[in-house]
Amino acid sequence: MAISFNQEKQFFHLSNDSISYIIGIEKETFLCHRYFGKAIKNFTGNLDFPVTTGAFSVTPFPEDPHFSPHTRLLETSTNTSGDFRVPNYQIRNEAGKTVTDFRYHSYQITKGKKPLSGLPSLRGNEEEVTTLEILLVDKIQNLHMTLVYSLYEKAPIITRHTIFENHGKNTIFLENAGSMMMDLPESDYELITLYGSHANEAHLSREKLRPGINRIESTRGTSSPQYQPFLGLSEKETTQFSGEITGFHFVYSGNFIAQVEKTQYQTSRVQIGIHPDTFDWRLLPNESFTTPEVVLNYSNKGFNGLSQNFHKIYQKHLAPESFKDTQRPILLNSWEGNYFDFTTDSLLKQIKKAADLGIELFVLDDGWFGKRNDDHSSLGDWFVNTDKLPGGLEKIAKAVHEQTMQFGIWFEPEMISRESDLYKKHPDWALHVTPYPSLESRSQLVLDLSRIEVQDYIIESLSKHLETGTIDYVKWDMNRHLSEVGNDQLEATRQKEISHRYVLGLYHILEVLTQRFPAVLFENCSSGGGRFDPGMMYYMPQTWTSDNTDALCRSQIQYGYSFLYPPIMMGAHVSDVPNHQVGRITPLNTRGYLAMSGNFGYENNLNQLSETDQIVIKEQIAFYKAHRKLFQFGHFYRLLDPTSTFATSWLFADENEVFVVYFHGLSQPSAETIFLKLHYLDENATYEDNKTKVVYSGSELNQIGLVVRGAREDFHTTTFHLKKL
Ligand code: GLA
Repeated sequence: MAISFNQEKQFFHLSNDSISYIIGIEKETFLCHRYFGKAIKNFTGNLDFPVTTGAFSVTPFPEDPHFSPHTRLLETSTNTSGDFRVPNYQIRNEAGKTVTDFRYHSYQITKGKKPLSGLPSLRGNEEEVTTLEILLVDKIQNLHMTLVYSLYEKAPIITRHTIFENHGKNTIFLENAGSMMMDLPESDYELITLYGSHANEAHLSREKLRPGINRIESTRGTSSPQYQPFLGLSEKETTQFSGEITGFHFVYSGNFIAQVEKTQYQTSRVQIGIHPDTFDWRLLPNESFTTPEVVLNYSNKGFNGLSQNFHKIYQKHLAPESFKDTQRPILLNSWEGNYFDFTTDSLLKQIKKAADLGIELFVLDDGWFGKRNDDHSSLGDWFVNTDKLPGGLEKIAKAVHEQTMQFGIWFEPEMISRESDLYKKHPDWALHVTPYPSLESRSQLVLDLSRIEVQDYIIESLSKHLETGTIDYVKWDMNRHLSEVGNDQLEATRQKEISHRYVLGLYHILEVLTQRFPAVLFENCSSGGGRFDPGMMYYMPQTWTSDNTDALCRSQIQYGYSFLYPPIMMGAHVSDVPNHQVGRITPLNTRGYLAMSGNFGYENNLNQLSETDQIVIKEQIAFYKAHRKLFQFGHFYRLLDPTSTFATSWLFADENEVFVVYFHGLSQPSAETIFLKLHYLDENATYEDNKTKVVYSGSELNQIGLVVRGAREDFHTTTFHLKKL
């Protein structure tokens, strides 16, 4: 049995072949963390609880003064009753009091995993998942709190979330409703996070935990490019290839907090949830509140092991059903090649050229609607600009389909321009706090997605286009963060619900649209990776990874995101040089291999492409098509951490073939020869180099490695393509 309860010793054991999670009940009251990590084959429950005692401790048990919540390793806690570490929840009653006393009550184990009401979550059927629900009750106010744990049978993955229910007679307010908390008995960890900014996302940070609170967060209204809603705790020794790491990834697209407190007793408290600074939720009698989910992932096979677990679970259990096994088309996006400057004719020419090159999907980006000829107007006016595009989208879609390509368009549905018909009609639909002015960013305001009429407007205005049946793909963009988060609808005490209601509104819209149009491929974007999180990936199976298309920058950005997401989820396009973001000139074949290492596409203006580049691009596309299965569904492993000269390397492998990419970065004199150990090949198999036809054994490639000679050229790429014999 995957989850068991030991009545005598009072513990729950969640286990499969690779992991164990053990929770004990102490004094019939407290839910204590006992263990999470490599599978324990036989847990007797005879070992002592990991406890500490300390001065200044408060106890609910006068007969046992050393027993204090402050010194226990707990599964959830607040800080109004003697536990002074970071809390996982806090509840205020009508009298403004925040003391609660939740004690263990009962449990339930069921097969499968229920979807979370109104929220994205990992999927799993009765054969794949078992769920444990542990109920804690505050008898004084009659409040319930259920901690939910879902264990995947065949993966080192557990999901957690919390449900709050008000069974009392009075209204309560959730000031803090964390999704999960876990106290670990040790603190000698390194904290792994991904940080960045617009066009510079997903840099890896690896720091020794320092005493006190180690925190990442977003209060920008989205998960943000500043911090991925993820943290990992690894050993000092953990490398890409070996060692332990536990990862925590939040399935949420709004304001979040993710923190680890290294305590005075050298224990660590991990806590993740909606950010309490921008949250306060009214709960009437008989109402409940479900928090978003956290994915817990354990690996003792290094960072690559952790990534493999995330890649597999996200492909199989997070991506929308209709796309999880579907090959993705090679696309041409109009943005960098045209920006707002296009006509029907200039597009038709590029469409013809795209078809000749072998491109499979043409995406018309920003600029096709309202009076949008720059980024100052028209967001919200989702009707085609027929002055600019006589014949409308139909004419373009028809031309695309005649070339047996797919057609896609760009929307930024959550936004409103002051200069738009929509704003003239509904100025109050923008987030606003009267009497203050709403502030613009990129000349735009944010629609208040917490309002049902706004949700309906977005659903209907997009549906009108999708119902024509001529649109196969939608790029869903979101290009600013939220300010003046308020409206005149909700009463004063509920204004701090709006940030979360915005996210719930967004999820509702996406749920309706993706159900209504299951064949449409949605791509997530927020100025690139500004809202690249598992919440969005539940609705949209791919993300435009970054507005930065420079090959060198992309090698670092895609390296970072690959810790969590498989390449098929990361949009990556070849663009023109000098690169529009950083001005760098990199070779076309390097840009090509970088883009093939993600969800492959182009952003060039095909009307301006040289003959030579056309030939190379045609070859790239033909090569990718022949090996698409490997790139989109093979295993992806990082072989090299980016060096000080920006070199990096990775490997794609499936049962038939292997493709190794080595990005050389900046050239150096006296460059060392690199032995690129492949680590992940079948030790008992032999492999043939496609170019030289030389045969190698899997074990020599793993242990000794392929030789990469120093190139006398910046940004050079070396590749090896091997066939498994
Ligand atoms: C954002 C996106 C780009 C492009 C522009 C259009 O910046 O990330 O890819 O769609 O908006 O305005």
